[in-house]
Amino acid sequence: MPIIIERLSHTYQKDTPFQVEALHDINLTIRDGEFIGLIGPTGSGKSTLIQHLNGLLRASSGRVVVDGEVIGENKQRLKDIRQKVGLIFQYPEHQLFEETVFADIAFGPKNLGLEPEEIQRRVTNSMKVVGLPTELAERSPFELSGGQMRRVAIAGVLAMEPSILILDEPTAGLDPRGRDEILGQIEFLHKKLNLTTILVSHSMEDIARLVDRLIVMHKGTVLLQGTPREVFAEEKILEEIGLAVPQVKTIMTSLRDQGLDVSTDVLNLNEAENEIMKYFKKRTGGTSDA
Ligand SMILES: Nc1ncnc2c1ncn2[C@@H]1O[C@H](COP(=O)(O)OP(=O)(O)OP(=O)(O)O)[C@@H](O)[C@H]1O
Ligand SMILES: [Mg+2]
Repeated sequence: MPIIIERLSHTYQKDTPFQVEALHDINLTIRDGEFIGLIGPTGSGKSTLIQHLNGLLRASSGRVVVDGEVIGENKQRLKDIRQKVGLIFQYPEHQLFEETVFADIAFGPKNLGLEPEEIQRRVTNSMKVVGLPTELAERSPFELSGGQMRRVAIAGVLAMEPSILILDEPTAGLDPRGRDEILGQIEFLHKKLNLTTILVSHSMEDIARLVDRLIVMHKGTVLLQGTPREVFAEEKILEEIGLAVPQVKTIMTSLRDQGLDVSTDVLNLNEAENEIMKYFKKRTGGTSDA
């Protein structure tokens, strides 16, 4: 189910003194099963862009085509689109409202008019995927920890069995353990179900590790795109718009600036370690195995 974005522009509060052009002439194609990282400074248009992908926002001009269908063209089809394209907002736990965890996760499937057994199956399955123990099903979501509440919210979207999963800063405000767990689950879902995944994140480390392709937004346009390696090679451009590269890369750049003959083309600790080892081997004429 490819996503094709053609000449998409979006202006908030058009024809008022407060009008803001949040997206300007965006063209993108996202292939089936791709894992996309969407990064960009605050206000660059990331959240505005992803809300067009399930019809929450309407294009001011241009169009978005999901699975051959132009979004927003046929109002009756929006329900279907929202089932296919699961969108998880920043701080999704703020949208929990039912009395029990079960009811909250079941809300979407119920609206689809599914049979009770099917609803039960989906709720149980989604709770398992996000790592929520079944005994929490009858608890109030508001008694849970922040990380657990977020899982309930994510499970609610998964229970719709979407084929595209979009997550806006899913780890914001979580502690490192909660963060790693949520990212691990996203990675698992992407691999196991081959879900097309779009992850908006400020963590360059996470992005570098997880995604196939990185899209960098700046002032409502796509400034750069490519593999994480290609994009992070543009350190200067990223710096100019206030974005960092993964920390290991910064360290290697600083070593090179101090005269060490090392490559800065690294994305993780392993690659950095290899580079440094290579450097020492070269220095000792290849005789040391240190
Ligand atoms: N509901 C709205 N009404 C008016 N302007 C808005 C609205 N939502 C966003 N904007 C403006 O549109 C632009 C893009 O905002 P958007 O929220 O898409 O950026 P973002 O990249 O998601 O930022 P962040 O990293 O802070 O989440 C900004 O200038 C923002 O102020
Ligand atoms: Mg945003």
